[in-house]
Amino acid sequence: MSAISVDLNARIPNNVNLSENKRLLKALESWQPKFLDWWREMGPVDSERLQVYLRTAVSVDPGGWAHFDYVRMPEYRWGIFLAPPEPDRRIPFGEHKGEPAWQEVPGEYRSVLRRLIVTQGDTEPASVEQQRHLGKTCPSLYDLRNLFQVNVEEGRHLWAMVYLLDAYFGRDGREEAEAMLERHSGDPDKPRILQAFNEPTPDWLSFFMFTFFTDRDGKFQLASLAESGFDPLSRTCRFMLTEEAHHMFVGITGVGRIIQRTCEVMREHRIDDPAEVRGHGVIDLPTIQKYLNFHFSVSLDLFGQELSTNAANYFTAGLKGRFQEAKLEDDHQLKDAEYEIWEVAGDSLRKVRRPALTALNEMLRDQYIADCAKGVERWNRIIREHGIDFELRLPHRAFHRRIGTFSEIQASPDGRLLTQAEWDQHHHEWLPTEADRAYVASLMPEAVREPGKMAHWIAPPARGINDRPVDFEYVRFD
Ligand SMILES: [Fe+2]
Ligand SMILES: [Fe+2]
Repeated sequence: MSAISVDLNARIPNNVNLSENKRLLKALESWQPKFLDWWREMGPVDSERLQVYLRTAVSVDPGGWAHFDYVRMPEYRWGIFLAPPEPDRRIPFGEHKGEPAWQEVPGEYRSVLRRLIVTQGDTEPASVEQQRHLGKTCPSLYDLRNLFQVNVEEGRHLWAMVYLLDAYFGRDGREEAEAMLERHSGDPDKPRILQAFNEPTPDWLSFFMFTFFTDRDGKFQLASLAESGFDPLSRTCRFMLTEEAHHMFVGITGVGRIIQRTCEVMREHRIDDPAEVRGHGVIDLPTIQKYLNFHFSVSLDLFGQELSTNAANYFTAGLKGRFQEAKLEDDHQLKDAEYEIWEVAGDSLRKVRRPALTALNEMLRDQYIADCAKGVERWNRIIREHGIDFELRLPHRAFHRRIGTFSEIQASPDGRLLTQAEWDQHHHEWLPTEADRAYVASLMPEAVREPGKMAHWIAPPARGINDRPVDFEYVRFD
């Protein structure tokens, strides 16, 4: 199978036979220096000379796709890797269900498909931009390495989407590839497409929450695109999901270690008053809850409107499926199916049945919420193990929304509808305030760079990376 042989020595490592497609190779080789300029200007600050113990994708073999070694990040081998083709793959859903998967873009779906790819692609460099200052305040070398690992892989995910644009969308695709480097997170004139990717990620609690909640949105979006009838998109996303798992690992363990440390301090000093907890230089649990509320609610917006004809059209056309489409036992067309969604009714919220096809965004959001809840339960287990009477909770989906039905109302974290005056009076109890953010930032005045040493506010990880010890020199500063 020539399509899955890997060319690692090429300027752009790949398993897509780049060397045999001169037109595409030329397009990507002319984009590469622009990407590197963007990385230097918008990527991790002051990182150019560091040697980082990183994994690099070198194959798509599930048994051993990654190679670990020290790399200077601008020399990272950003490659293009697609999961191996499934022989005789069929479109798994929609009106083309059962037809052979497309190896080229169907003309009638060209612009929507491009839009889907651009929207996904835009999030990848955005998160690198959001996280670019965090290296200056890392709590350990282990964490610094993980930050950079996430950053280089988001860079690779951008490459993955740019490959699709250049390979399948001609001139429009090339223009979109350029635009990916021109929009910037939080830029008032040229912002990133989705709002969660314009929010700052100013501190490490935000970073861990982001990788838990927002990278998890990525998992669900990629999984739905991995079902696509457009086979190159499906194969690209399947391999991206392999990398995404580590990003969410960084999030769940990062928040877990902060909770662990806070609980240790609370137990050691027999305190539970948040001000006293802060007095000991760790992050009190109510502040962690506020950050959770913020990141969960902005990530929920990423799934879009509760009822969406776009979502219905993507599905019917066979472009974007449901999470684990193949495991679902229905007709995979949803012509007559219904689905229960929340809506605002007067001064309360209620569940109503709506055509499942138009409710696909909400269905994916429900699965996402269930996945988040499992992680929160893991965090709560840490709190319980310390004998502390506190429980973290996911806020109601109506809380603090900017997109969809709930953007028109205000709701408390437990799902009570509020007047604007009530919201104005109470939101500082539920979302991080300037003072909360300043406190969290004050714990992180500078980078901790001694191998094995952790900042005071976070517990060490249970184990290191790639069987290396926790006190391994994950980043070298020479
Ligand atoms: Fe990504
Ligand atoms: Fe990610």
